Amino acid sequence: MEKTFYIETFGCQMNAHDSEKVIGTLIDQGYAQRETPEEANYIFYNTCSIRDKAEQKVFNRLMHLKKSAGRGKVLGLLGCVAQQEGEKIFERAPYISLVAGSASYTKLPEMLRQLEAGDRRVTGLSLDTEETFDTPLTRRDNPYKAFLTIIEGCDKACAYCVVPFTRGPERSRTAASVVDEAKRLVDQGYTEVQLLGQNVNSYRDPSPTGWDFATLLNEVGNIPGMKRVRFTTSHPRDFVKPIIDAIESNPNLCNHVHLPVQSGSDYVLGAMDRLYTREQYMQRIEWMKNSKRPIAITTDIILGFPGETEEDFQQTLDLLDEVEYDALFAFKYSPRPNTAALQFEDHIPEEEKTRRIQMLLERQRAIQIRKNSELVGAVEEVHVEGRHEMLNQWTGKTTSHHTLNFTGRDSEDLLGRYVNVRVLRAGPNSLTGEAVQ
Ligand code: 5AD
Ligand code: SF4
Repeated sequence: MEKTFYIETFGCQMNAHDSEKVIGTLIDQGYAQRETPEEANYIFYNTCSIRDKAEQKVFNRLMHLKKSAGRGKVLGLLGCVAQQEGEKIFERAPYISLVAGSASYTKLPEMLRQLEAGDRRVTGLSLDTEETFDTPLTRRDNPYKAFLTIIEGCDKACAYCVVPFTRGPERSRTAASVVDEAKRLVDQGYTEVQLLGQNVNSYRDPSPTGWDFATLLNEVGNIPGMKRVRFTTSHPRDFVKPIIDAIESNPNLCNHVHLPVQSGSDYVLGAMDRLYTREQYMQRIEWMKNSKRPIAITTDIILGFPGETEEDFQQTLDLLDEVEYDALFAFKYSPRPNTAALQFEDHIPEEEKTRRIQMLLERQRAIQIRKNSELVGAVEEVHVEGRHEMLNQWTGKTTSHHTLNFTGRDSEDLLGRYVNVRVLRAGPNSLTGEAVQ
C-alpha cells in the first residue's frame, strides 16, 4: 500500500502542535502527506474532547468518511477522544484500526509497522511513558510563529475538565531542551514563539538548574534574534508576580496574558475546584494593571456550570466590567466523562445557558468596542502574517495580540516582517490602520 496520509486536527493549540510532531514523524518514516482524505491511504483525526460538541464533530466526521472516502483505508484516531475512550472506540467505530493518545506519538512508526504486518488493531494509550520532548522532526505549519511545548499534562482537578484524564499528569521539559529548540527555531528564521502547556505557570525545570516559569520565559526572551515570546495557558493559582516583572522588563516578552477565570462567583469557583477566590484572581489582575508596561488580558468563561444561579451569573458579568478584558472565550458548560461535576445536581437548562452566553458576549462586545477605540491614533508594531489581496491589506498581530489589518507598502513583501502601523479605526474584534512611513 502506498505510504500516504491525511491528517485533520481539532481542538487547542497543544493539539495543533501535536499534529505538527506527528506529521514530521510520519514524513521521516517515508510517508507522504496529502491534502484530502481521498488521496491518502492512512487517515488520522487528531481529536478534542473538551466539550461534547467537539467530540461529536469527530464521530460525525468519521461516519461521513466511512460512507465516502473511507473504503480500503486505514483510519487512526489520535488525541484526546482517543485517550479518553480507549479500546471502546473499536466498539463504537469498528472501522478504526489505530487509537493513540498524545503521550504515544513517538511510538506511531512502530504502531504503523504492526498494522502493515497484518495486525488489525493497535493502541497507544499509556500515559506514564517517559517523554523525551525532543522533537527534531516537527513539521511546523505556520512560517511566522512556532509553537514550543514546555510542559505536558495537568495536575489540577477542575470539576468540569477532561484534560487531566486525556493528557495525564504534569511533566516539565528540561530548560536546556526548551532553550535549545528555541535557538534552533531562530536559526530556521523564526522570530516569534509560543510556549505551550496546559498550565505553563507550574513549569519547573526537572534538571538541577530548577528554573521556574518566569526564569525560563525570560531566558527564551533573551535569545538573540528572538523578537516575541508568548505563552498559554495560565492557571491563576500558579500565576505569580515574577512573571509580570519579567514581561515588564523584557520587551521581547509579549504584553498579553491569557488568564482563564471561568466564573466571577466564589460559590461557582469553589464548586469548580479552581483553587482561587475572585479576590485572589483580582489581585493578579491588579498586578497587571499596575505594571508600567500595559498588559492585555484575555480569559475563558464557562456559563451554566451546575448550580450557577442568576446571582452567580451577574457576578461574572460584573467581573467583566471590573477587569475589562481585551478579549474572551465563552463556553456553555458541557458534562464530560470521568469528571467530578458529572455527579453534581442542579444542571442548568440549555436555553438558559444560551441566554447567559449571549448576554455575556453582548456585554463583552461593548467593552471591546470601547477599549479598542482607545487605541485609535496609536502606533503599534505588527508582526505581519498575511495578505488580503482583494482588500489590498496586510494582516498581523500586535504584541498585545490584537489583530491589526493595514494598508501601505504594497510593492514590498512584508510577510514575516515587523512593521509600525498607525491605528485609524477600531472594531470590536480587530483594528485597521496604515503603515507608518
Ligand atoms: N464545558 C465547557 N467548557 C469547558 N472548558 C473546559 N472544560 C469545559 C467543559 N466541560 C473550557 C474552559 C477552558 C477552555 C479551554 O475550555 O473555559 O479554559
Ligand atoms: Fe481539547 Fe483539552 Fe485535548 Fe486540547 S487538551 S485537544 S482542549 S481536550
